[in-house]
Amino acid sequence: MSRQNKEAVFFCTECGYESKKWLGQCPACHSWNSFSEEPVAVSTGSKSQGGKKNRTGQGSPEKKIVSLKDIDAYGEERIDTGSSEFSRVLGGGIVPGSLVLIAGDPGIGKSTLLLQTAIGLSDKGRSVLYISGEESLSQIKLRADRIGYGSGMGLSFLSETLLENIDQVLDREHPDVCIIDSVQTMYSEDIGSAPGSVTQVRECAQRMMMRAKEDGTAIFLVGHVTKEGTVAGPRVLEHIVDTVLYFEAGDNGAFRILRSAKNRFGSTNEIGVFEMKGNGLSEVLNPSELMLSDRPENASGAVVTCLLEGTRPLLLEVQGLVCETAFGMARRQASGIDYNRLNLLLAVMEKRAGLQLSRCDAYVNVAGGMRVTEPAADLAVVCAVLSSYKDLAVPDDTIVFGEVGLSGEIRAVRQADERIKEAKKLGFKRAILPRYNARHCEHIEGIEIIGVRYIRELFSLL
Ligand code: TYD
Ligand code: MG
Repeated sequence: MSRQNKEAVFFCTECGYESKKWLGQCPACHSWNSFSEEPVAVSTGSKSQGGKKNRTGQGSPEKKIVSLKDIDAYGEERIDTGSSEFSRVLGGGIVPGSLVLIAGDPGIGKSTLLLQTAIGLSDKGRSVLYISGEESLSQIKLRADRIGYGSGMGLSFLSETLLENIDQVLDREHPDVCIIDSVQTMYSEDIGSAPGSVTQVRECAQRMMMRAKEDGTAIFLVGHVTKEGTVAGPRVLEHIVDTVLYFEAGDNGAFRILRSAKNRFGSTNEIGVFEMKGNGLSEVLNPSELMLSDRPENASGAVVTCLLEGTRPLLLEVQGLVCETAFGMARRQASGIDYNRLNLLLAVMEKRAGLQLSRCDAYVNVAGGMRVTEPAADLAVVCAVLSSYKDLAVPDDTIVFGEVGLSGEIRAVRQADERIKEAKKLGFKRAILPRYNARHCEHIEGIEIIGVRYIRELFSLL
């Protein structure tokens, strides 16, 4: 980097955008008032390369080129985290030599998840080093007591925030897995700015990346999502690390969702569902069952749909409520689905199926606090609104999925078979789906498949 001897620059604390002057709005991520001034390191080059520097090449050992077949891939032997949810989100386990960022609001359970994983790994004979800059060792011990642990062999802790010291310890210990909780508390002496600033957070991530690749240690960084202040958010790091996982609460706070936003070793959009209990996080192995618990029986306006979160099908209940508007302007409210998408679907129903929805208030809610982004939920939203409008219940044993286009046509979705199988597992008997999918899906015993082409055909079905 050619930042030598510059006095100060401004960074966006949300996305890390760098500017020579202060800006009110970030041109990259459009957040307001997010710029903070930071002095720049005299040289960010030297120590950050872990001593193996010298970009100019003079005096550095010659680097050999390697042919493809001679490269060892770490990916083959992944380390099982001991939690099937966590492993799946990582793409099948921990890849040695990877740098994973776990980001989330303070108090969501990041430290708990990682401590639990560390305990599990050490019980299986892996060496794990947990470096905490936030909590004292006795606080960690209290948490470990809550979670419960086996022998505790192979799991060591370090309370430290200075990167240079951490480097020394890692040079000595060479653990299989290292956890840094949190990246915002770590700082390097080379850099003049405060811990948590964009330059410090970046420096920490870059050094850890270098170390992970050189030693083969898998490193987890914890990052807090922040909205304001001088503490840099995890978005600053997204492009540096291999994997970014967001740990978030469901809309109603009942459970925790681990979501992969970037993964160099697996698919993104994968989710893992957990529940915070008195003794740590427990996995929710069948989230569909959880989402559909306490479902009303034969109520109008409630429809079950099946969506794919990454590779996993998930059944959800979409609820609609339509009533005549009391004021001149109709109210629309969407929770769990996109508001604009709801308006679009209502307009399609008005124009293509002749419903007088402009005179009605319409509320749509996804039960269980999940946020739905897949277009396959469209048909369920349409059915829920239609069912409430006509006050006709959709049978309890029916699932509905499909994308709705602007002409009122119902378009095919991917992996219809997977969705139907998931519904079958939970006792559903009928599936309403796009006609193309109905023609091409495999025959599944005990489930009636109904293909539809246009939304007006739904009237006769209901
Ligand atoms: P924590 O892991 O410290 O969150 P983070 O590291 O993301 O800031 O824990 C979050 C909350 O979880 C905390 O309020 C206490 C609660 N908790 C439980 O309910 N049960 C438990 O077994 C543990 C360890 C924590
Ligand atoms: Mg914590």
